[in-house]
Amino acid sequence: YLPKIPSLFTMQVTEKKADPEVNLLFYLRKVRILSFYCNRSGLDGSCGACTVMVSRYNPKTKTIHHFPATACLVPICSLYGAAVTTVEGVGSIKTRIHPVQERLAKCHGTQCGFCSPGMVMSIYTLLRNHPEPTPDQITEALGGNLCRCTGYRPIVESGKTFCAESTVCQMKGSGKCCLDSEEKSFANRQEKICTKLYNEDEFQPFDPSQEPIFPPELIRMAEDPNKRRLTFQGQRTTWIAPVTLSDLLELRANFPKAPLVMGNTAVGPSIKFKNEFHPVFLSPLGLPELHFVNTTDTGVTIGAGYSLAQLNEALRLIVSEQPKEKTQTCRALLKHLRTLAGAQIRNMATLGGPVVSRPNYSDLNPILAAGNATINLISKDGQRQIPLNGPFLERSPEANLKSEEIVLSVSIPYSTQWHYVSGLRLAQRQENAFAIVNAGMSVKFEDGTNVIKELQMFYGSVGPTVVSASQSCKQLIGRRWDDQMLSDACRWVLDEIYIPPAAEGGMVEYKRTLIISLLFKFYLKVRQGLNKMDPQKFPDIPEKFMSALEDFPIETPQGLQMFQCVDPYQPPQDPVGHPVMHQSAIKHATGQAVFIDDMPPIDQELFLAVVTSTRAHAKIISIDISEALALPGVVDVITAEDVPGDNNHEGEILYAQNEVICVGQIVCTVAADTYVHAKEAAKKVKIAYEDIEPKIITIEQAIEHNSFLSAEKKIEQGNVEQAFKYVDQIIEGEVHVEGQEHFYMETQSILAIPKTEDKEMVLHLGTQFPTHPQMAITAIIFFLILMPHKLPKCFPFPHFCVPTIFITSHRTGRPIRFILERGDDMLITAGRHPLLGKYKIGFMNNGMIKAADVEYYINGGCTPDESEMVLEFIVLKSENAYYIPNFRCRGRACKTNLPSNTAFRGFGFPQATVVVEAYITAVASQCNLLPEEVKEINMYKRISKTAYKETFNPEPLRRCWKECLEKSSFYARKLAAEEFNKKNYWKKRGLAVVPMKFTIGIPIAYYNQAAALVHIYLDGSVLVTHGGCELGQGLHTKMIQVASRELNIPQSYIHLSETSTITVPNAVFTAGSMGTDVNGKAVQNACQILMARLHPIIRRNPKGKWEDWVAKAFEDSISLSTTGYYKGYQTNMDWEKEEGNAYPYFVYGASCSEVEVDCLTGAHKLLRTDIFMDAAFSINPAVDIGQIEGAFIQGMGLYTIEELKYSPEGVLYSRGPSDYKIPTVTEIPEEFYVTLVRSRNPIAIYSSKGLGEAGMFMGSSVLLAIYDAVAAARRERGLTKTFTLSSPATPEVIRMTCVDQFTDMIPRDDPSTFTPWSIHVS
Ligand SMILES: Cc1cc2nc3c(=O)[nH]c(=O)nc-3n(C[C@H](O)[C@H](O)[C@H](O)COP(=O)(O)OP(=O)(O)OC[C@H]3O[C@@H](n4cnc5c(N)ncnc54)[C@H](O)[C@@H]3O)c2cc1C
Ligand code: FES
Ligand code: FES
Repeated sequence: YLPKIPSLFTMQVTEKKADPEVNLLFYLRKVRILSFYCNRSGLDGSCGACTVMVSRYNPKTKTIHHFPATACLVPICSLYGAAVTTVEGVGSIKTRIHPVQERLAKCHGTQCGFCSPGMVMSIYTLLRNHPEPTPDQITEALGGNLCRCTGYRPIVESGKTFCAESTVCQMKGSGKCCLDSEEKSFANRQEKICTKLYNEDEFQPFDPSQEPIFPPELIRMAEDPNKRRLTFQGQRTTWIAPVTLSDLLELRANFPKAPLVMGNTAVGPSIKFKNEFHPVFLSPLGLPELHFVNTTDTGVTIGAGYSLAQLNEALRLIVSEQPKEKTQTCRALLKHLRTLAGAQIRNMATLGGPVVSRPNYSDLNPILAAGNATINLISKDGQRQIPLNGPFLERSPEANLKSEEIVLSVSIPYSTQWHYVSGLRLAQRQENAFAIVNAGMSVKFEDGTNVIKELQMFYGSVGPTVVSASQSCKQLIGRRWDDQMLSDACRWVLDEIYIPPAAEGGMVEYKRTLIISLLFKFYLKVRQGLNKMDPQKFPDIPEKFMSALEDFPIETPQGLQMFQCVDPYQPPQDPVGHPVMHQSAIKHATGQAVFIDDMPPIDQELFLAVVTSTRAHAKIISIDISEALALPGVVDVITAEDVPGDNNHEGEILYAQNEVICVGQIVCTVAADTYVHAKEAAKKVKIAYEDIEPKIITIEQAIEHNSFLSAEKKIEQGNVEQAFKYVDQIIEGEVHVEGQEHFYMETQSILAIPKTEDKEMVLHLGTQFPTHPQMAITAIIFFLILMPHKLPKCFPFPHFCVPTIFITSHRTGRPIRFILERGDDMLITAGRHPLLGKYKIGFMNNGMIKAADVEYYINGGCTPDESEMVLEFIVLKSENAYYIPNFRCRGRACKTNLPSNTAFRGFGFPQATVVVEAYITAVASQCNLLPEEVKEINMYKRISKTAYKETFNPEPLRRCWKECLEKSSFYARKLAAEEFNKKNYWKKRGLAVVPMKFTIGIPIAYYNQAAALVHIYLDGSVLVTHGGCELGQGLHTKMIQVASRELNIPQSYIHLSETSTITVPNAVFTAGSMGTDVNGKAVQNACQILMARLHPIIRRNPKGKWEDWVAKAFEDSISLSTTGYYKGYQTNMDWEKEEGNAYPYFVYGASCSEVEVDCLTGAHKLLRTDIFMDAAFSINPAVDIGQIEGAFIQGMGLYTIEELKYSPEGVLYSRGPSDYKIPTVTEIPEEFYVTLVRSRNPIAIYSSKGLGEAGMFMGSSVLLAIYDAVAAARRERGLTKTFTLSSPATPEVIRMTCVDQFTDMIPRDDPSTFTPWSIHVS
């Protein structure tokens, strides 16, 4: 059942030929019932974009169970008898939008809109089960949904509007609202400060009784006593769903190799990513015998078919009913169940799944083993019990299930007195990420003593299976639970669980450290438990160690956004300055926004798959396409030979020819009638290579081989060498900043539609620069390029992709649909440049920096792309907010054998300024000052010139800085953090404030121009188009606001048509944060031209209406259409002279973050962030705050958890959401305050400022706060020397920098004796 429109009609789908290999996502899109879910965003259940609600009726309990599920992992055959609700079923623009959709839109919870349907479905499903949820339930429900644009805060806020509890901040339970104090502090200001970005009064009420009913036929079907076995026969596979246990056992005996498809969260990904094939699937999903909870005095038995969410509920009940001592295992399981995957997977995956599949990363199995769980097996031959122990988890053949057996249930015995069980885990991200290392541990003591009777330790993710430290445990029997025991245990466990230095997955030393750090945590926990049992006999652990015991809690984020209120004298109709909702928000929330792959199939269309190089640098000996061409459906295989013109466009190679220069370079493309055929054929292309030396992967290797993409760029002022002679101290250092994947939710996509008869082709594609791909095709063909909304702040479509699609379409004469799979997208398109910074700084003992000599190297990859421009930006901007009288900054873009890195929000600034902040921090450390003091001393203070001699006034910078320090109570909180740090040895808090002087625009004047086209129609409606691309950043929304003000008509009169090269030719890129600046001026210009034409008519009839004036103008033969043009900011840069007016103006800001780090695991928690951003006058505070928050979270990801892994051979390992972690809702600041600071900027439209990128660098306050916390830990351990914390500060980096007895204890390998699994490329 697919309810399309709630309460109007419910669509019953009868699929007579249900194919077991087809998943729900594919099916929904294939039959075009849905047109909006991501097709290839990840497809592994990790991103949540494809979330639907599945509802089933349970005839036993007579209840309906609604749960969220990721459609990409749901086989359609498993849905027999289930109701599926999609976002279209929740509400639609045509009928009625649902309150969930409305509030997501009105609370500004959408930007590009790609994640929005999934967000809606997660909240909607929660509301179906809990109409008045708690804020924590909202946060939990969203944990499995990724968003790359918004930073989650507005999404959570939209969900919180359904909560019974107040959604105002409550100041951490004090009952007061921080707003009270803030408003007071702003009271004396001229402009009033607003805090409401939306009006709750506009929300339609939520009435849970109005939701569609569960289809009665499905209840009848579920209650049918004569249910029979179901069989679906697909093209290659058979799906059999037994309805009785005996039938299942019979089938199991007949098909012992057939997987039992339960949640399909393990089977599904194995089929997709490991190419597993199963001719038969058995699906006992609803079998009552697998769904039960049975409690006895000694424990609980839970049916293997229970989902992890149901398991969670059952365990919660047990924990609430049983005494604490009995529920140690249950509580340990509950802890991990909160963070295991996201809500969708927890609702789909079953208990039997991980128990049988025994993945090495399993969070539950180590705990079950430590808790002495047993598995109840059943087969035709009877039942038996086996222990879920070490041999079972290590897959010893004698401990395995027999082929005809299935798991009926798992029995978890209660813990007893003098018995302790714990689960421990650490992942790159707290929720929805596989553990880097996890563990289940238990110890039983001789009654009344601390003498070990039984000890068990199981570790996950340290080898190919979960492993048991059984020998060490055996040796420790009889020992007392004391420090000496711990010390021996650590040594023995490290010996027993050996992780080889080149182990797959890397992080070897970190994993070794975690093995014993987690053991130490367990040790402390047990000591605390013993103390509770007998405080006389067993002393408690030191107070300072207490905080080591608990993981960071997951709190619901809260905060406040402050901005200037609109002038009360502004006409009410004028929308400028108001927090207007994103123009496409409702379309996003209802799923009606059309992305490229949502566009309906076109007759004769072909699909494209790419064949990419598997070598970093090699000669192509041969390419054999014959097998691929022979496959069914294949129409063409295109190689370099087939390129009609030049295969090399400004250094960007379309198809590899003669040699490959990176892993991931396109060698050929395959066009076929379906994507599956194209992909299959792509696998059959045979390429023979011969490696070429050198193979340059890292910046260091590039420097060594003198391999650069462009000449050095330099800026110098003062006399650096001379200044070094007169300073008190000189420090030198190196900082590494790794790259970043754009991870836009919609992968790169193009639809090319040729009209060969007219020598014309229409390209629908995601780009920020439509002119560029058009130029890239030096053809006789005329192009139209249309851009649907997409791409959260990412950058141009890889230069080589568009021509390759063009060539294919041109050759075949057929439409081409090219949607990159996530893995290919990540591999081919690369991302932000990794950077190496080397500095030499001369300074006085009071912290005043007198001289700086800084060198930057970026890893540009194999072709020029935007590397040179990125480098120029780095050199120009990297002084940031600091005046250093003698300053030299040089930079080079390295040419390596990696895919070409490209532009990314901030254009090099976010990387380069880490180096600046690092040397400022190092100076502070040398001078025994706070970094903030050194920043203040060296900050620009008055009207000044930059190092390249551009004049600016840093007054707003000083104001943002001052307000940030004051309003965040930085110094008071710094003291509090120090107090905290004194009392806590294993957890440390850190705070940091970063100032920012950022620029918008580009130092090349012609790149700052823009044009628009405005038509007024006779009915009074207005069509606006302009050359800027909507990337979710709200550009179109602001353009409507501009047109509304200029034409003095309501926004509802204005229609904004998608950007197209038909309407505005030669548009420059929407980049450098100047989309609104330049396009706004162009729209303004067009509107002003039109108003000038209308003016005489208006003067003659001042009381008339807009429609009357328009009609009159037409009668008077006055043109109602015009283009608008803005010549652009007159920027320039003379690299010879090292000076120029490179940028039109500066954007200032400051941000303060406070973190807490767990020194034992390297995890960190972001407690609070305050951002003060100089917005001048904000045209749309909701959009601007959305940009700042979204960029901040993206920046925070760059600086903390986002980590691309490369092999030493230049192969990118991180190819999807499972192994590249962007922040989720769990990572955002617990308290988040954003203030738009008012200033003047007469040069820009309405005195606004471009804020698209500036927030990115604000995320570095998290990195520096982590540094501060780690420094506190190191100081306490006697390590006072300045140290460098590079970016990202991953859990691994944090843990290994918090040096202690455990990091000292682990075995270290001689780097010359092995090749590591991964390397850093910065
Ligand atoms: C996005 C994502 C994130 C994840 N994150 C985590 C995480 O953080 N931590 C973690 O531990 N796990 C994680 N997982 C793994 C997840 O826990 C497992 O995929 C899941 O538990 C498997 O259960 P299932 O019901 O979906 O199994 P299925 O895929 O349906 O089946 C898996 C295997 O078990 C067998 N099987 C299942 N039930 C039985 C039975 N009763 N008797 C005999 N054989 C049976 C099947 O034959 C099959 O071989 C994640 C998975 C995904 C997709
Ligand atoms: S596409 Fe299904 S979870 Fe991402
Ligand atoms: S709005 Fe969430 S991914 Fe773009």
